[in-house]
Amino acid sequence: MRKKGILIVFEGPDKSGKSTQAKLLARELEKRGLSVLHTREPGGTPFAEDIRHILLDTSYELSPLSELFLYEAARAQHTQETLLPALKAGKIVISERYVLASLAYQGYGRGIPLQRVKDLNAVASGNLKPHLTILIDVPVHSFSQRMKGSPDRLEKEGVGFRQRVRRGYLKLSKKERNIFLVDGRGRIEDIHAKIVSKIDKLISSSGRGI
Ligand code: TMP
Repeated sequence: MRKKGILIVFEGPDKSGKSTQAKLLARELEKRGLSVLHTREPGGTPFAEDIRHILLDTSYELSPLSELFLYEAARAQHTQETLLPALKAGKIVISERYVLASLAYQGYGRGIPLQRVKDLNAVASGNLKPHLTILIDVPVHSFSQRMKGSPDRLEKEGVGFRQRVRRGYLKLSKKERNIFLVDGRGRIEDIHAKIVSKIDKLISSSGRGI
């Protein structure tokens, strides 16, 4: 079955500004009359949102492998129940995080061999690949400057974990295909403008026009 929609994924370390940018992009594309679905991982279905609660709950100490399986379980459900139907319906799907996050966090961050994470990603996603992944990079110290409220289980991790995740993302941006690396330190509007210009090209090259 041909998938007609476009899958755009936002990635980056915690507090990189990806939710803000995902919302701004969704609003911009909707203004142009395009049909957009804005979703997230872990989450995007009632069951996957429940898994998210478990994953971010600070009262659990999860082993790296059980953590990975939970992200992949949420991903399998999200892919089947939300992403594929929306793509089939021709929507522009904007997801906050997808397979790259497991490589950065569970692979580089937790130390699970990358090939193992890739294999599980492929199973959970049914090999669905984003048309474009926008990676918003910020230095590790931005996290403590931007963090407000009480941290979740992942946000409680130390600076060493954050460094590994950030470096992992940067390495992945060189190795993996269709990644657009954006410096997340600029003004929100400037970052948004860069992203819109990239997406304009992506949408016109897909033959959909704007
Ligand atoms: P969020 O804060 O971007 O909503 O994501 C929740 C946390 O889950 C965030 O710290 C990144 C982490 N995460 C992983 O560790 N692996 C994954 O595969 C995904 C999707 C998220």
